[in-house]
Amino acid sequence: MNVVLGVGGGIAAYKAAELARALAQRGASVQVVMTAAAQEFVKPLTFAALTGKKVITGMFSSATGDETLSSAVEHIGVAEANSLLVVAPATANLLAKFAHGIADDFLTTLYLAFTGRVLLAPAMNTHMWQHPATVANLEILRMRGHAVVEPEEGPLACGMIGPGRLADPETIAEAAMRLLNQRKDLEGETVLVTAGPTQEPLDPVRYISNRSSGKMGYALAEAAAARGANVVLVSGPTHLARPNGVKLVKVTTAVEMHDAVIENLDPATIIIKAAAVADYHLARIPDQKVKKTAARLSLDLDPTPDILAEVGRRKGDRLLVGFAAETERLVEESRRKLKSKNCDMVVGNLVSQDGVGFDSDTNEVVLVMSTGEMVELPRASKREIADQILDEIIKLRLALHSAQ
Ligand code: CTP
Repeated sequence: MNVVLGVGGGIAAYKAAELARALAQRGASVQVVMTAAAQEFVKPLTFAALTGKKVITGMFSSATGDETLSSAVEHIGVAEANSLLVVAPATANLLAKFAHGIADDFLTTLYLAFTGRVLLAPAMNTHMWQHPATVANLEILRMRGHAVVEPEEGPLACGMIGPGRLADPETIAEAAMRLLNQRKDLEGETVLVTAGPTQEPLDPVRYISNRSSGKMGYALAEAAAARGANVVLVSGPTHLARPNGVKLVKVTTAVEMHDAVIENLDPATIIIKAAAVADYHLARIPDQKVKKTAARLSLDLDPTPDILAEVGRRKGDRLLVGFAAETERLVEESRRKLKSKNCDMVVGNLVSQDGVGFDSDTNEVVLVMSTGEMVELPRASKREIADQILDEIIKLRLALHSAQ
């Protein structure tokens, strides 16, 4: 497991030393590359001591110490010898250079020559993190398929409180290990995932919706694609970027989601319905904006098609996973939905808790299976929960097949 750790010039550079140690402790051989600015914050010697390797500090300062042709093309050699590039802290400047292919020092030149996986752990001041330029650059990098460990919220060195603090080195090391040990155990599968809320129009300017952010469904789609599956993600309106390697079908209403799911059902072998579909919609939507009057207004709503129940009726030997977002009696409600919608698994979450369910980056769920088994997954990032759900789906399918 050969990893390059690119260290950018930010106050969080000292935390990259902990990351280097965490990677080495997990058995990785770590080659550190520091930008000139990073060396203003931490001495290369710290990293050399932690990794047992000379640190690369510049374009023409070879790790081997020689001043020959091999040092001039060292970035190519380093790119070829390593399968993962982790950049922590990834400063706004580094993100911008990576996004636009500017190669004016060792790390940015290495980035262009690198063909393996890239993991970015940004850290910066909140305003820099939220600046449209940084947002756009990060979007480019995500679209390129790079993994990102988002910064955390908290007090920053500049005195502000907000997002921008480098994620915990252990969290970054875990994400790096996941990329290095990526299982390809869903090759040959076609996974259909639904995500996000639906919006049901009331007139041309208003709609009814719910608090779903789509994060859990997107995490599942990304995890399934990383494990080798063909993934179709049918998504209601969200602010999330298309996960790498996923076919994204955007919809707005429950009826559109229904049609997109049915259209993509045939080739699917696993169906995961994480979307929070509106249960009711306005049957006849006025053509013009409804005007305010002093009178009371009632909405006459009709039920939407229950997509999960319909897929349950025609699923054949596909494995069907539903979601239950509940505020009480989680296990009972999950079991009820499992039976009534003919699912093989229901992922239940209590959306009334902090850090769980809608819009949260973490989740804590209970999996209720058609075999009667129940698995509790303790709180973790939605990306980690996604992999654990996929592990359980694979196990469940083996159990169902061997029971046949
Ligand atoms: N679902 C669906 N189509 C709908 C409503 C829900 O496919 N019109 C799916 C969701 O994607 C989710 C599961 O059904 O996988 C559970 O959604 P939920 O709204 O909790 O189920 P309901 O049957 O609407 O139950 P409740 O009585 O709690 O509203």
